[in-house]
Amino acid sequence: MSLTSRKYWDSVVAKWSATRQQELWRQHSDVVNGQLLRRWLPEDRVARLLKTDLFDEAVSNGLYSLLAKHADHFLGIDLSPGIVAAVKLRVPGLTLCAADVRDLPFGDASFDVIVSISTLDHFDSVREIQTALQELSRVLRPGGQLLITLDNLSHPVVWLRNILPQRLLLGLRLVPYRAGTTCGPRTLETYCRDAGLEVLRMTAILHCPRALAVACAYLLERFTTRRTQSRYLNALLSFERLEACPSRFRTGHYTAILATKRPGQTGSNACSRSTLKSAAIQETLTNPNKLRSKTLNKLTCRE
Ligand SMILES: C[S@@+](CC[C@H](N)C(=O)[O-])C[C@H]1O[C@@H](n2cnc3c(N)ncnc32)[C@H](O)[C@@H]1O
Repeated sequence: MSLTSRKYWDSVVAKWSATRQQELWRQHSDVVNGQLLRRWLPEDRVARLLKTDLFDEAVSNGLYSLLAKHADHFLGIDLSPGIVAAVKLRVPGLTLCAADVRDLPFGDASFDVIVSISTLDHFDSVREIQTALQELSRVLRPGGQLLITLDNLSHPVVWLRNILPQRLLLGLRLVPYRAGTTCGPRTLETYCRDAGLEVLRMTAILHCPRALAVACAYLLERFTTRRTQSRYLNALLSFERLEACPSRFRTGHYTAILATKRPGQTGSNACSRSTLKSAAIQETLTNPNKLRSKTLNKLTCRE
């Protein structure tokens, strides 16, 4: 099954939900991502915010409650209808739809802020990362902000993981799902620029030794008390101090970039989206209860 297929991600989340994997580890992931969002999101509340995948919300508390505080309208998408359905069950009332970040069903300049947490590192080719960045740039309004994280190829373990056969890694349970192509910080910066984005900040996050930390979390959540688990999470968080070191891109699992769309930039596919789509998403965002099912069906079915 292709890494980029809906069925693949449907099957990942179905298995994940049945086995309740990595709950403690996902708490850490939410905290690290949450710290970054608090630091980098605009202080003033914005009108429309898009999150490009919903895995965090499907398997854990996720980031939507934090993001919702920063925007009047939060919209979450995911390639996988199964993940969208899982989040709808967990958090009724959110505005969600199944959509592909490489071909977004939204009009140009639809969003003030876009948050993309490790979504674009699940493709088969670098070209798809570039396509997705161009799409994100297109739907971002000029002056709007994109906060993106991606597996960091400058991290030795990420590099090694990406050259080893994925079947072997999955068979040994060293990874929970297949990893996609990714790039290092400088290349990501270049791709952002090519997509008409100006990079404002760049850093690396998630500095603990991940494979070991995930294994310890697995054991601790089975055999220890909540107090011990909470101490463990605090200990993991202390690794984030490594972000202040010049070696941050060697120790941080993810590259994080905050970029803005240059005013006057329309995005590479500016003319390729219909007014209907733009109007549909506008309605969905401003009047989700009334229009959600009708509009989102339209968005979900579009291929
Ligand atoms: C395993 S997750 C990792 C992301 C998660 N935010 C994290 O940091 O752990 C990858 C997510 O991206 C979604 N995804 C993969 N390809 C996508 C695409 N082309 N468009 C939108 N979502 C996609 C998958 O369905 C899945 O929910």
